[in-house]
This record gives sequence, C-alpha cells and structure tokens, in this order.
Amino acid sequence: MANEPRLATNAEIEAAARMIVAAEYPIALTGAGMSVESGIPPFRGPGGLWTKYGEPPMNGYQIFLADPKKGWEDRIRRQDDELFAPLKVAKPNAGHTAMAELEQMGVLRFVITQNVDDLHRQAGHQALAEIHGNWKLVRCLECGRRFKSEEIRLDTLPPPCPRCAGMLKADTVSFGEPIPADVLRQCAEHAAHADLVILGGTSATVYPAAGFALEVKERGGKLIEVNLYESEITPLCDASLRGGAANVMPRLVAAISEIRRARLS
Ligand code: APR
Repeated sequence: MANEPRLATNAEIEAAARMIVAAEYPIALTGAGMSVESGIPPFRGPGGLWTKYGEPPMNGYQIFLADPKKGWEDRIRRQDDELFAPLKVAKPNAGHTAMAELEQMGVLRFVITQNVDDLHRQAGHQALAEIHGNWKLVRCLECGRRFKSEEIRLDTLPPPCPRCAGMLKADTVSFGEPIPADVLRQCAEHAAHADLVILGGTSATVYPAAGFALEVKERGGKLIEVNLYESEITPLCDASLRGGAANVMPRLVAAISEIRRARLS
C-alpha cells in the first residue's frame, strides 16, 4: 500500500474543510499515525512494531486470564521496552492540538481513539473515548472501575480492586479481549449520530473501531482521511489528505476557521 507520500495541496485541504463545515455531526476516528510525530511508532506499515516483530498472539487476553500473576510480572518487566518507553516521554503534537481546537470550536463532536497513549486527553479533549484503553490506567474485570496505575500497590499480583476486590488488569485492551461495554456504548452512540468521520492516522483494519467509519459511510455520510500513505479505506473516502497528521491537521483547522469566519462577515 505504501507509496511515496506527497503532501495534500491547499485545494484538497480547502475541499475537505468545506465538507467538515457542512456536516451536522462530524466525529473523528484516530490511530497510531496521529502519534508518530510524538515519537510513538505505529503498528503496521513502514516503521510499524508489528511490521518489525510480527503481530502479537490474537489470544493475549486468554493468556492473561490463564496466569494473571505472570501477566502482571511481564507488564512490570516490560516497562522500558520499545512499546512502553516512548509512551512515558511522548507529548501531544500539532495534530493532537489542532484536533482539540476543532472540538473547542464546537465543530468536532466526538473522538474515538484507538491509541492508548493518553495524548488526545493531554491535548484537552473532553468528548473522547479511548476504545483500546489508556496505558496510565488499570481496570477491574469485575466492577469495570478504572484507577490510575500509580495509585495501585503491586505487592500482590494480580492486584485486587480497591472497591470490590475483583481482579485488576491493565486498562489497555488485549487482543481477544472484548471492548469494555461502557466505552463501546459511547462510541456506538456518537457514531450513530455522525454524518462525517475524520480518519486520523489509522489503517482502519481493526474492528470494531474501523466498523464505525464504514457504518457512517453506509448511511450516506462522508469520510475524510488524514494519512501519510494510502490505506485500505482510502477508496471509500470522499477526501484523502496525504501528509503527517502534525502537518495536515493544523492546515485543515485553519481552513475550517477561515470558511467559518468568511460566513460570519
Ligand atoms: N501521520 C498520519 N498518518 C500516519 C503517520 C503520520 N505521521 N505515520 C503513519 N501513518 C499512518 C499509516 O500509513 C497507517 O495507515 O497511520 C496508520 C497507522 O496504522 P496502524 O499502525 O495499523 O495503527 P492503528 O490503525 O491505530 O491500529 C489499530 O491495531 O494493533 C492494534 O491495538 C492496536 O490500536 C491499534 C489497532
């Protein structure tokens, strides 16, 4: 799929901006590409972790449930590996900031992110669902409550839930693990209202997340892609803006502001 990236032209940005301004309920679905310019590698495509090491076992969750103590020991041991180390130092980039600005402008109604890196939250999003969890949190598999990892003592593994004594697991959703019902419900509710989806830095190959964009398209909605390379969903998009998210998103938001300003004057 990967081809030589060429930067989206101003005319392409302008056309996409007009579609977003015309939409009633635009939402965003974002992926690892949003955070590449924050120093976090993607999973697939050039420089992807799975490209480098192969996809992890699809039954990661079942492996955890079979031996949760070992699951926690592995997680603690891996704190400084190639997956976790960048998460500790990463900061939101201009792409995250621009997307948060679009929410503050009242244009972007909701963000579904597949990223566990906490960067959309740090950028200031209020209307946000982290469909694959957040690396800074742990979650009780009994009561579903989430806690900050640093608030949980690790002298007993697996650590018990402070509220119901159920078993705690990293909030990040493992392969083979069902998406927590509260988050899935939130995503489905906003996707059901949406008439446009901005696909920011995602290969749109993992479900149920990618399904929300297809659902909007099937209902006659529009898809606007921001991606360094072509992806599997590019043929379905009404606009596909090539370039890094930290370059394209601020340009898109500037064009949207300009259109709205012109309308007010
Ligand atoms: N700006 C914009 N897009 C980029 C950039 C960039 N700087 N760099 C890479 N991309 C694009 C790639 O072309 C690719 O299409 O981002 C996409 C990243 O795709 P994936 O690595 O597959 O990430 P994602 O879509 O988030 O994966 C979904 O899969 O492995 C699981 O749980 C993991 O949440 C993840 C899910």
